[in-house]
Amino acid sequence: MPVRFGVLGCAEIAQRRTIPGLLAHPDIELVAVASRDANKAARFAAEFGCAAMTGYQRLLDDDDISAIYLPLPAMLHADWVERALLAGKHVLVEKPLGSSHFQAVELTELAREKRLVLLENMMFLQHSQHRRAAELLADGAIGELRSFSSTFTIPPKPPDDIRYQAAGGGALLDIGCYPVRTAMYFLGDDLTVDGAVLRHDRARGVVLSGAALLTNAAGVIAHLNFGLEHSYRSDYEFAGSTGRLVVDRAFTPPPSYAPVLRLHRQSGTDEIALPPEDQFQAMLNFFVAAVRGDEETSTSVAETVRLARMLDTIAIRAHTVYTRPGPYCEPGFN
Ligand SMILES: NC(=O)c1ccc[n+]([C@@H]2O[C@H](COP(=O)([O-])OP(=O)(O)OC[C@H]3O[C@@H](n4cnc5c(N)ncnc54)[C@H](OP(=O)(O)O)[C@@H]3O)[C@@H](O)[C@H]2O)c1
Repeated sequence: MPVRFGVLGCAEIAQRRTIPGLLAHPDIELVAVASRDANKAARFAAEFGCAAMTGYQRLLDDDDISAIYLPLPAMLHADWVERALLAGKHVLVEKPLGSSHFQAVELTELAREKRLVLLENMMFLQHSQHRRAAELLADGAIGELRSFSSTFTIPPKPPDDIRYQAAGGGALLDIGCYPVRTAMYFLGDDLTVDGAVLRHDRARGVVLSGAALLTNAAGVIAHLNFGLEHSYRSDYEFAGSTGRLVVDRAFTPPPSYAPVLRLHRQSGTDEIALPPEDQFQAMLNFFVAAVRGDEETSTSVAETVRLARMLDTIAIRAHTVYTRPGPYCEPGFN
């Protein structure tokens, strides 16, 4: 019996990556897409061969649908996740699950009570290149780990993109969650936030970029950068007592990309070539297995809640600087 999906919102990420992934999955059936706009829903439905619905609640009320993919702007996630869970649906929600630790706790607790799967689509962690990097560290490939750095930055998007509106959550929630989650993955669950800076666009009321400095109990330092106003960069690097390990294309490798981990040591550089992997498909496999009771999700759920707490702490501790007018600032801003 396939997992019968409905999609809330005709989002770009749904059109480009997730819906093709749903359609290609042997254990998933795409039943319907819902939009606030009937014409938009009809266009998506025609493109992907499913039903069109106007209004998200209509889709949630459909008993034929058992699971929801939710790619709405970040600040709307919590409300619609709650409604989807109350309607008895399993939910795959785009990152971040909510906009605060409090919301993450409430929603994961609701899913637990209702015995429904709720997963945050942090799909990059499904890619085995990160496990390989962890193995190299554990094998002592760079000696003792001293520091970790990670950057996820993307070039400016059109001015009407949701990321430049309060509803989109800004750079910390939308982009910063990746390097923070990566630091958690490699450095453990005892990270403290020792400093952070957020560049805030006062005119639009959103954070455009930022940086955070974290430390774990062993004294390993993490330098993290994120933003919506730089050239593209998506990588991380470990510095150890005897070498460095670099992972490029860390967060959004396309399915055809064959990763190469670079190990720099006194003796020279080794390149560790890995086969391509489809992390979208891997995430869907995980979700389907969880819905069928074949995968345990409690670790992922706990990490989602911890990530929300880290993001909250960074926001609270951050020194905020206000950006000067740039090409995408509202006219008249000063
Ligand atoms: N996991 C990943 O690799 C990945 C990659 C990219 C994005 N994302 C996440 O996916 C989500 C969507 O990103 P996106 O770039 O695809 O965004 P997008 O194209 O702007 O789509 C967001 C959708 O939300 C709906 N919506 C509801 N209320 C809205 C409002 N007030 N303003 C704008 N849209 C509203 C719209 O659908 P209707 O008009 O049809 O109702 C819109 O198409 C974000 O949470 C983002 O962080 C994840």
